[in-house]
Amino acid sequence: MSQTPLIVGNWKMHKTIQETEEFCLGLKKEIDGIRSGQVEVAVAPPFTALAAAARLLKNSSISVSAQDVFWAESGAYTGEVSPKMLRDVGCRYAIIGHSERRQFFHETDDSVNKKAAALITEKLIPIFCLGETLAERREGITFTVVERQTRQGLKGLAITDPQDLVIAYEPVWAIGTGQTATPQQAQEIPAFIRKLLQEHFSPEMSRGLRILYGGSVKPENIAELMAMDDVDGALVGGASLNVKSFSAIVRGAGPKEK
Ligand code: 13P
Repeated sequence: MSQTPLIVGNWKMHKTIQETEEFCLGLKKEIDGIRSGQVEVAVAPPFTALAAAARLLKNSSISVSAQDVFWAESGAYTGEVSPKMLRDVGCRYAIIGHSERRQFFHETDDSVNKKAAALITEKLIPIFCLGETLAERREGITFTVVERQTRQGLKGLAITDPQDLVIAYEPVWAIGTGQTATPQQAQEIPAFIRKLLQEHFSPEMSRGLRILYGGSVKPENIAELMAMDDVDGALVGGASLNVKSFSAIVRGAGPKEK
């Protein structure tokens, strides 16, 4: 089965509107040569720059993702943004459950689950992040943690097309540390997640769902990560902030045969 790899740049709290515009114009030029269908690309600017990115990337092969969302449709939720608003501004994806949100903003498996359901209802694609901390890995509970995050995050979710959901495995100890997981580590957990997906959905869905790896992905290590059977793309932080390094990662992630 052939799978189009997905490379997503998570900018976190970086870039003004002007910087976003410069980046988007530069990225379009850089990856123009990549045939559509070979690699799918998305960028996730901060909320304030989503409109600018969506405007500049309209009619291009590059999609726009939000970095978070709230699950309610509308209402008295000061500071929050709904799936409908993300759709309105031109997003295709929204990242949910990122470890930084879990760590600093009290994101829980339950809130991730609500966000996933709300996004799917609005026909937006969740990029559902999960992964163990260094303490959890040292304690030997990586599989338990990943299983809990997967099961609780996906609870009750009904999707019929594997394109409707993306999972991102990001071991917390590999995020922003320069310490990338070894290709074997980056394969072991996604393979385990895929088994859980098989139980939760179906074998066909599980095969078709894309599982990204995230954590210190760079132009130098993308090829060996993508060579792993169960890695279908990457969620890139630091190296996605620069057009040259992000497009080198995109180029390094060729199409996959499964
Ligand atoms: P780095 O690529 O900077 O390690 O960040 C990974 C990440 O958190 C992407 O969501």
